[in-house]
Amino acid sequence: MFYSHHPSLGLLLASAVPVLDPASKDAKAIGSLFLIVFLVCLAILAVISALICTSLYRFRAQDNNFPPQNFGRHGSETLWAVPPVLIVLTFSLLSAKLIVSDSAGAGDPDIVVVGHQWWWEVRYPGSRAVTANEIHIPLGRRLRVRVESADVIHSFWVPQLGPKMDMIRGHPSFVWLQADGAGIYQGACSEFCGDQHAWMRFLVIAEPESQFKRWLERQARPALGAANDTAQAGRNFFFAQTCANCHAVGGTSAVATAGPDLTHLAGRRQLAAGILDKTPENLARWLKNPQEIKPGCQMPNFNLNDDQVNELVAYLEGLR
Ligand code: CUA
Repeated sequence: MFYSHHPSLGLLLASAVPVLDPASKDAKAIGSLFLIVFLVCLAILAVISALICTSLYRFRAQDNNFPPQNFGRHGSETLWAVPPVLIVLTFSLLSAKLIVSDSAGAGDPDIVVVGHQWWWEVRYPGSRAVTANEIHIPLGRRLRVRVESADVIHSFWVPQLGPKMDMIRGHPSFVWLQADGAGIYQGACSEFCGDQHAWMRFLVIAEPESQFKRWLERQARPALGAANDTAQAGRNFFFAQTCANCHAVGGTSAVATAGPDLTHLAGRRQLAAGILDKTPENLARWLKNPQEIKPGCQMPNFNLNDDQVNELVAYLEGLR
C-alpha cells in the first residue's frame, strides 16, 4: 500500500495524526486512503497557489487600461473541468471500495457499546461483564462491535484501530474492531453531542487472548463486599442515598443503568470518560463535586461532606 512505501513521512505525520499510526488492517487501509487524498490535495493547493501568484504578477496593473478579455478558450476549459472530475471520481471509487470491504455487516456482536451523554457503556454478549469507558479486546481478532445510543447521536472512533461509526438511538450499527499490537489505544466520540462531547473518551486495551479471558471472567463476577468499617459505612451510605438510582453494582440490589456500572470500578484506569486518572484522590474530587470537573454532566453535586466522601471512596476502591 501507499502508506507502507513512505515510512518516514508516515512516522512524521503519525505523531500528530493517530490515523497514520494504524494497528490493524482496516485502520491501515484508512490511513493509506487519507494520505493519498491529503497528498493529492496538497499538490492541487501548490499548483493553484503557483498559478494565482503567477497571474498576480504577470497581469498586475501596469497602466489604467482594462486588459483584453478572452472568452471561450476550449483548451483551458477542458483542462480545468476534466482533471478535477477524474480526481473526485477516483477519490469516490477508492472510498466506496474501502467502505464496502470494511463493512461489518449485521450479525452476532462480540461487544456491544452504548453511547451516553457523556460516557460509554460496554457489554460482552454471552458474559455478565459490563464495564464503562474501557474496552478490553483479545489481540489479533477481528471483533464485531454493535454500537447504539441511549440518547443523542454519538460516534464511535478508535483512530488507530478502525473506521468511525455513528451511534444512533433505536438503530444499531456494526463496526469492526481489531488490534494487531498489544497496547492501550485512545478512542473518542467524534460526533458533537453536547456540553461534554470533548470529554467522551475511552480506552481500548488489547491484550493476549489468555489475559483477556481472565479479565472477562473477573468482570463477570459479582462485586466484592466491604473490606473494612469505613468501606462498610460507605456501602451503607451508597444504598441509603440515591446512588443506586443511576448505578449498578453486580450482586447487589443496585441495578440501574443510567450511569456507569460500578461493579469493578476500582480496576479501571480512568474516571468519567477520560477526564481523570482513576486514583483515590481523583475519585474523592469527583464525588465531592462532579459538576466542577465535568460541567453539565448527568451526575449532580450532592454536597457530600468529607467523611461521606471518604467512606464512599473506601467502598468504591474495594470494587475490583
Ligand atoms: Cu458523544 Cu460526542
